[in-house]
Formats: sequence, C-alpha cells, structure tokens
Amino acid sequence: MTTPTVAPTDHSSAGQDDALPVLRTVADLRAQVAAWRAEGRTVALVPTMGALHDGHLALVRRARELADRVVASVFVNPTQFAPHEDFDRYPRDEAGDSAKLLSAGCDALYAPTARGMYPEGFATAISVGGPSEGLCGTFRPQMFGGVALVVTKLFLQALPDVAVFGEKDYQQLMVIRRFTRDLDIPVRVEGLPTVREADGLALSSRNAYLGADERARAPELNRALTAAAAALAGGADPDATLTRVRGRIAEAGFGDIDYVELRDAETLAPVTRVERPARLLAAAWLGKARLIDNVPVLPA
Ligand code: PAF
Repeated sequence: MTTPTVAPTDHSSAGQDDALPVLRTVADLRAQVAAWRAEGRTVALVPTMGALHDGHLALVRRARELADRVVASVFVNPTQFAPHEDFDRYPRDEAGDSAKLLSAGCDALYAPTARGMYPEGFATAISVGGPSEGLCGTFRPQMFGGVALVVTKLFLQALPDVAVFGEKDYQQLMVIRRFTRDLDIPVRVEGLPTVREADGLALSSRNAYLGADERARAPELNRALTAAAAALAGGADPDATLTRVRGRIAEAGFGDIDYVELRDAETLAPVTRVERPARLLAAAWLGKARLIDNVPVLPA
C-alpha cells in the first residue's frame, strides 16, 4: 500500500506546559491505559482529527458518561485522504484542541505522529464492503479504507471499553460498526446525534472553509433534508422527494451535489420505500467546502 508522504511534525515542545497529558507513542498510550485499568477504571476513546468544535466536545462528554476515563486522539490521518483532497490544509490547532478537551473533562490526549502510525514499510490495508459502498464511498473512494485502518489501529492501541463517534459522519459510523463486528474487536461503538448550530448547520471542522455568504446559505442543506424526511414519513414518493431536495439545495447556491439518497438506517442498503427506519443522506459542495449531512426517516 502507498501512504502519502508526510512531512515530519515537530512535537518537541507540545504538551510540556499542557495540563492535559499528551501521549505521543503507542507505548505511552498503553502505559496510561494500563495504569487506569490497574485502578479498576473503564476507558473510553474519542477518535478525532482535531480542529475540535462543540460536536467533538459532546462526544467527550458522552464518553465521560460511559467510562471512568476518557482519552481523545487527534490525528489527521493521511490514508483517508486522496492526493487531491485537503490533507495539507486540514485545520490543525493542537494547543487549542488540548485546552478544549481539558474543559470537556478529557483525561489524556493521544497525538501520535504520522511516522509512528505508519512506519517505513507499512503495507497493510483493510477493505470494508457493505456500508462503505456508494454515497461517500463513491465520491471519496480512498476514505473508508483509511478510516478502517486508522480506527482499527487506534482500537488495538488503546483497547478501550467503548469508543464514541458522531452521527454527522453516519456512513463512517456504520462502516466502523461493521468492521468492529466483523473483526471481533472487543470495543463497543457508540454513536451520538449530530450537534448543530442554531440555524441547523451540522458542526464540522470543514465549516471553516465557508466564506460569509456561503455560511449564510449552508443551513439550507439541513432544512431541505428535514423537510424531505417529514414528507417521506408522511408517505411522499421517495423519487420525487429526493428530486425536490436536489432542486432546493441547487437553488440555495450549492454547486456539485455528490448525492442525495435514501438508505436503510442500519445496513445502508438503498431503499425505495420507508418500511423500516431509514436515513436520508446528502453531500454537496458550497465553494471549497464539501458539506455532508443526514437525518433519520421513520416509517409512518
Ligand atoms: O471522523 C473523523 O474525524 C475521522 O474520520 C476519524 C474517525 C477520527 C478517523 O480518522
């Protein structure tokens, strides 16, 4: 497998003055988790790519409810980005992240280096079928293999009791549930509903790419999905409803619409009628930002 070339990061000064312990290596992480285990504590992991917002902090707070100790990882994972994607410009702010994690009740930050995660000669890939297929799997074919790889590594490195992920990346959550079950990884995967701005926009680190005008238009994605979910629950025709969503977000100024699709809420198989819990998912571009969102659709 080819991993993108990453410039080595200088972490030499980070962590020294932080009140939150910063763990850089698998050995440090395992020693910390072992110390907690020796005290009889349960452990939760919150995997992130940093640039933390209130959505991430809600994951940490939920993790606190589920376990005695919480470790959050911050790692911008190169293997889930295609070469033309935003790996280089993905927002990074370790000091800010560390302060936010501390305020949310996190006990340790795991911030490995790219070389630590993917040493010279790294040659392993994980391929997940089922819920990876279609949706973001079509438009970002690199993504779920990279997510499966790094999350599997994080699970095996930390061996937490539970790990918490946001439903904002709903397909990702279903993919993680699938491979965790398939590979018998003894970690409970917990999903948390999307945290939104007051106007409905799903919180995302990539919202930082939106200009002021785009930011004002962005909530239309959620409004269109929410209205469509209500219509579908009331028995509206799925094809016509999805076409209306596309029209509405195009009219709001979105550019390319990668997909607007109705899927089974658990398997993510395409559905044409809402007879079981379903999910309406969309991805569309607004300027340089690719926004994704999804809402539940319940049968009438
Ligand atoms: O959702 C994210 O932030 C990332 O995809 C994850 C799960 C931390 C893996 O890099």
